[in-house]
Amino acid sequence: MKNTVATFAQAKAEGRKLAMLTAYDYSTAKLEDEAGIDGILIGDSLGNVVLGYEDTLSVTMEDMIHHSAAVARGAKNALIVCDMPFLSYEVSIEEAVRNAGRLLKEGRANCVKLEGGREVCPQVSAIVAAGIPVMGHLGLTPQSINAFGGFKVQGKSEAAARKLIDDAKALEEAGAFAIVLECVPAKLAALVTKAVNVPTIGIGAGAGCDGQILVYQDMLGMFSDFCPKFAKRFANVGEAMRGGFASYISEVREGTFPAPEHTFKIDEEVLEKLY
Ligand code: KIV
Ligand code: NA
Repeated sequence: MKNTVATFAQAKAEGRKLAMLTAYDYSTAKLEDEAGIDGILIGDSLGNVVLGYEDTLSVTMEDMIHHSAAVARGAKNALIVCDMPFLSYEVSIEEAVRNAGRLLKEGRANCVKLEGGREVCPQVSAIVAAGIPVMGHLGLTPQSINAFGGFKVQGKSEAAARKLIDDAKALEEAGAFAIVLECVPAKLAALVTKAVNVPTIGIGAGAGCDGQILVYQDMLGMFSDFCPKFAKRFANVGEAMRGGFASYISEVREGTFPAPEHTFKIDEEVLEKLY
């Protein structure tokens, strides 16, 4: 069954946990979808894990549309959420609505995600008014890395914790259908989850959230630049890939690959004429 913002709301009402992962291409989206994932995020983490940038700031609308469309072709049942990249929604409400619309129109996403709290609520309301569901994103918001001065847990002081709860309520009021909580103390994330009626999706935010999300290269052990504390390794695909690549290279060098079963035949009669 196709997941929608309505099935996400229903999951929270019924206490059913939501499982999300990122994907950036057709084949991975198809595998996640077939495994029964509830939602797939085309995250701007694309910048880190696919494009090799140090942060997410250089990711463009064109990058997001290109990868979102690929994911959309691979996923049948998952809710497809596409990140709005840095500077695609901050400058004006008009630009925010137009860019959100492009992620649906050209990227074939079902909804968009953008970072920030009360300060982006005018954009959230306008995008929602255009018929585009919005997922919020609070806590460690990587597009603000230069303002944070590094990747740190957010909401630890009383003032920061109160602001986080207030931002979550503001996003809900502006019409957000769900909120990602990234790198937030588990007990604070549980408080936020109780404070709003929309599902919270945690990453480094503990089991008290209504759902979880991970970057798939992190949880499959495919990304070695850094490994955040919250990124449990569910499989060692990176090792399997290294092993497979190494076997291929040595078989090519030894001449044992390709074997006869991997090759095509030509009629001996035709061949004779060529000599
Ligand atoms: O870009 C991303 O992958 C994200 C998730 C980590 C929530 O925003
Ligand atoms: Na993101």
